[in-house]
Amino acid sequence: MTAGALSDAAAPLNVRRILRVNHAGEYGAIRIYQAQIVVARFIAPDLLPFLTETLSHEKEHRRRFRELMTLRSVYPCGAMPVWGIGGYAMGFVTALLGRDAILVCTESVERTVHAHLDKQLDALGTTDSEVSTVIRAIQQEELGHLDHALTNRTSNALFLRWLSRGISLATATLIWLSTYGEARFVRR
Ligand SMILES: [Fe+2]
Ligand SMILES: [Fe+2]
Repeated sequence: MTAGALSDAAAPLNVRRILRVNHAGEYGAIRIYQAQIVVARFIAPDLLPFLTETLSHEKEHRRRFRELMTLRSVYPCGAMPVWGIGGYAMGFVTALLGRDAILVCTESVERTVHAHLDKQLDALGTTDSEVSTVIRAIQQEELGHLDHALTNRTSNALFLRWLSRGISLATATLIWLSTYGEARFVRR
């Protein structure tokens, strides 16, 4: 597909929604890891190599989704500021709760994102193979983030399980708001 070949209106609705929410979600992930890096310098310096590398992955994910959006003239999600502020707050607060809370945050976000990407691939079918290919490649890296968090956590305390549920719920809610919610309430 060449740049500008499709207008926003011409790109199928599900492709527009998928690209918007994924681009916004990667921005949220960037803000989470940026906040965690700030706090981890003091409370969990051993996690810094993982957090720094993961941050670089999330930046690349955002760039790849933005590139696909540009090619299809798709506008960014209207809820981007919510993703940015919410992501930073989530990253900062979880990091203050300690090393395992940082890993629980990664685990919960990445697990929710992984399930969401699976649903997107199902919904896309053969609609846009370029978008499907990028999602599959990114999904593999997100799985790597999840695996690292799972294997490096040292505690399964009750408060961490509740934290995990809260983070999963918040992530799923933002995903919903940025797809069906935005489509319903924000007209572009
Ligand atoms: Fe990502
Ligand atoms: Fe990730």
